[in-house]
Amino acid sequence: MALQWKAEYSVGVEIIDAQHQELFRRFGALTEACKQARGKEQLAELLDFLSDYIVFHFNDEESQMLRYGYPGFAGHREEHRSFMGRIEALRKQLAEGGSSFPLLVETNEAVLRWLIMHIRKVDTAFGEYLQGRS
Ligand SMILES: [Fe+2]
Ligand SMILES: [Fe+2]
Repeated sequence: MALQWKAEYSVGVEIIDAQHQELFRRFGALTEACKQARGKEQLAELLDFLSDYIVFHFNDEESQMLRYGYPGFAGHREEHRSFMGRIEALRKQLAEGGSSFPLLVETNEAVLRWLIMHIRKVDTAFGEYLQGRS
């Protein structure tokens, strides 16, 4: 079964949670495509989507952090920048060398790791901070 967003990943800000759900959904579409041996075709679509979507998602998240004076802001923003760099590097590889199985595996791992390590842990830490405030 594809990795799914769960209520326990909620940050408690509706728009952020909706964006996270969309990220899980898009990754699920890639997983599904891989099962049908269409992963290589779907790769460009996911990377193009992410390249735009994470920019405004991170902006939204960071402005919420600033608004609520989140003390972990700088480190969190650093993680966002590093992931944006990672996605751009993968897009560059795709543009230069075309879609390939190793690139598909690399992208899969990078995005999966992001969903598990960042959304599930780092973003929810901000959610806990927000809840502690109210
Ligand atoms: Fe996020
Ligand atoms: Fe984040």
